[in-house]
Amino acid sequence: MGNTLEQVRHDLPHLNGPIPGPRARAVIERDQKVVSPSYTRCYPLVAAKGEGAIIEDVDGNRFLDFNAGIAVVATGHCHPQVVDAIQKQAARLIHMSGTDFYYEELAALAEKLDEIAPGAVARRVSFGNSGAEAMEGAIKLARYATGRDKIIAFFGSFHGRTMGALSLTSRKAVQRAGFGPLVPGVIHAPYPYCYRCPYGQQPDTCAVECVKHIEDTLLKTISPAEETAAIVVEPIQGEGGYIVPPQKFFDELSRVAKANGILLVFDEVQSGMGRTGKMFAADHFGVVPDILTVAKGIASGLPLGATVARADLMTWPPGAHASTFGGNPVACAAALVTIELLQRELVDHAAQMGAYLMDRLRQWPARFPIVGDVRGLGLMLGIELVRDQATKEKAGTLRDRVVDLAFARGLLILGAGDNTLRLCPPLIITRDQCDFALDTLEACLQQVIAEA
Ligand SMILES: Cc1ncc(COP(=O)(O)O)c(C=O)c1O
Repeated sequence: MGNTLEQVRHDLPHLNGPIPGPRARAVIERDQKVVSPSYTRCYPLVAAKGEGAIIEDVDGNRFLDFNAGIAVVATGHCHPQVVDAIQKQAARLIHMSGTDFYYEELAALAEKLDEIAPGAVARRVSFGNSGAEAMEGAIKLARYATGRDKIIAFFGSFHGRTMGALSLTSRKAVQRAGFGPLVPGVIHAPYPYCYRCPYGQQPDTCAVECVKHIEDTLLKTISPAEETAAIVVEPIQGEGGYIVPPQKFFDELSRVAKANGILLVFDEVQSGMGRTGKMFAADHFGVVPDILTVAKGIASGLPLGATVARADLMTWPPGAHASTFGGNPVACAAALVTIELLQRELVDHAAQMGAYLMDRLRQWPARFPIVGDVRGLGLMLGIELVRDQATKEKAGTLRDRVVDLAFARGLLILGAGDNTLRLCPPLIITRDQCDFALDTLEACLQQVIAEA
């Protein structure tokens, strides 16, 4: 295997004409007649092909992708070694159903996940096809292993849209409205959103009130400790706005979970697989979760989710949980090569490029009055926009305008939370591409300020 970073393209965007072009408009028209209107499309990008961090649309316009298919294509679009692994595996064995039969790729990937999961504890893995399915597995296993039914999750969280995962999700009303009753026994607690501390604290005065609320209120009232199976947390809240809690939150949360026999479930669907500059966000905080969920970046774009649990917890009997397609051989082959590339250099590269981006982003609150906060780890970076830095009034419409303006200049980004710009490029991103993204965003911010 050669040097992977040398193999990726270092291109910058190139727009041919007005966007959307005629071919894009035609596809959008067809799509709008037959595809579910529940999909959220921010701007009219109709992708035709991808290479590295570049997406070419159906009219030949080339964009720089700072979304990575929502934190999915960790190794970039169509990494040659991933494509090769997929093609070879597809020619050999596409499907067998790991539910009922053995194949080596499934065992090899479970071994690999056992190796890379935080902490030196033996793990077992149950495979699904998505982040939501990985969460379903985690919820079921937590209940099964503890014999308890309550689950504590956090406000602002996003864990997926299937009924179990949705019951934990509390990001937006529209995601839950009309679908009830949801799975009972889920209780939400405030997330440590320090820029907008729910308890009005500052970092130096914070006594981790959000964990105190769990310990002193929830566990003593509506979610008694002896009935609480798990605390489920995104170590960095993704869809909620790329929010990074302080170390003391994790220290306290781990203490409370351990003291009460409650399992700690880390949803690393978005933050895992090298995105934060370490293999898992848990590694930044020294936490060894009892159950870990992964998906998104794991297979560079093929559908795959995994519930990775302490082996002594995953003792459920044959038939208790499985999926026909989960961990199919082609997805496993893509995941194995993805992890090899991550371990070889991309996790370190993500840390370096993240630091490079952050060096400039850190200056933005002083340079742009509408930038309230910049935060993140590795290549999971958020820029929170406000109307006024003193009042912190959320500037959702300005954020949306920046996203649109960036698109018009050939940069693909999305929002997270109500008013945050998210940067989550593929981990193969280059310095030149980072410079382009920062220059473009600075120009967009200036334009938005001038328009306001
Ligand atoms: C943290 C987290 N968990 C779970 C999910 C759900 O994953 P999927 O869309 O693959 O079901 C997401 C998706 O954005 C996520 O960000």
